[in-house]
Amino acid sequence: MEIMRKSFASDNNSGVHPVIMKAIEDANRGHVIGYGDDPFTEKALKLCKEHFGEDSETFFVFTGTAANVLGVSALIKPYNAIICAQTAHLNEHECGSPEKYTGCKVIALPSNDGKITVDQIKEHLSGQGNQQYSQVKVIAITQPTELGVLYTIEEIQILSEFAHSHGLYLVMDGARIANAAVRLKKNLKQVTLDCGVDVLSFGGTKNGMMFGEAVVFFSSNMAGDFKYIRKQGMNLGAKMRFISAQFNAYLTDNLWYENALSANTMASYLETRVKDIKGISIPLPVSTNALFPILPPAAIPHIRKKFFFYMWDEKIHQVRWMTSFDTEKKDVDEFAEVIKKYVEEYNFL
Ligand SMILES: Cc1ncc(COP(=O)(O)O)c(C=O)c1O
Repeated sequence: MEIMRKSFASDNNSGVHPVIMKAIEDANRGHVIGYGDDPFTEKALKLCKEHFGEDSETFFVFTGTAANVLGVSALIKPYNAIICAQTAHLNEHECGSPEKYTGCKVIALPSNDGKITVDQIKEHLSGQGNQQYSQVKVIAITQPTELGVLYTIEEIQILSEFAHSHGLYLVMDGARIANAAVRLKKNLKQVTLDCGVDVLSFGGTKNGMMFGEAVVFFSSNMAGDFKYIRKQGMNLGAKMRFISAQFNAYLTDNLWYENALSANTMASYLETRVKDIKGISIPLPVSTNALFPILPPAAIPHIRKKFFFYMWDEKIHQVRWMTSFDTEKKDVDEFAEVIKKYVEEYNFL
């Protein structure tokens, strides 16, 4: 089978970190009880409490979409509405599953960098208490945003204070929360619970795991019925131990941190390698492991033939480059040379 060279398309395209792989292998001995009543899951849940606080309750699921949709499901009724950025994964890339599973309206706010503000949200609250309107119950943010931009701690605090003072929940899609924490120089609790997040989708797959995400409720009384919601949502793993074993490795010896640090460092190295090439502009800050440059259109297919990556916005020739936990300096150097060659060659168009 042909193995692709390391690409800059997505952190989903990387393999599994060897320590995680070993944890899966180590868990592959003998029999344990299924559906999470096993020692691997017990240990993983204990570790989650250490990272997210004693009052938190964590549930493992298979995908980030499941974490987002099921986590939100625990908080709302079908007459409620979820507010998020137009670019939110929940809005654009989950095939309508939030609407299907919750029955709720999704209100998508315009955003250039994936962030939303209290002022934008306020405009959608005039129908609260009016039986003719969907009742907003959840503000959903992504940290870092789908455009690689970070909310500051203060910005999240402002959103959460606003949410709580209006009877709303603040939910965070943290598919890449490790990358955000590294950049903000904070631990996992400081970038979530401590800034007032109610429910987190805690990503693992994009940062070195084979599969597995978690829904973290920061207050145990919010998690009450979630075990039924997860099962009805088809995400109760029979061989749960293999997700749990991965989280055990991920949350031990700072593996989550080291992997994210490495991916972030390679993204900023890529930025330094390409930012001065005439013909490239990078309109958004490179804060974590993604870059969204604008390129001369004719150069794009040539570069993509050598290193696959996705178009982000065809209209403005904007692409997305992502680094992964296993991206190495030599991969970036090779990629940067290819970019330079074609951007310089086609910069006249
Ligand atoms: C920000 C964000 N949230 C959630 C997801 C969902 O992950 P999955 O593809 O595992 O459902 C992704 C995947 O790319 C993502 O980028």
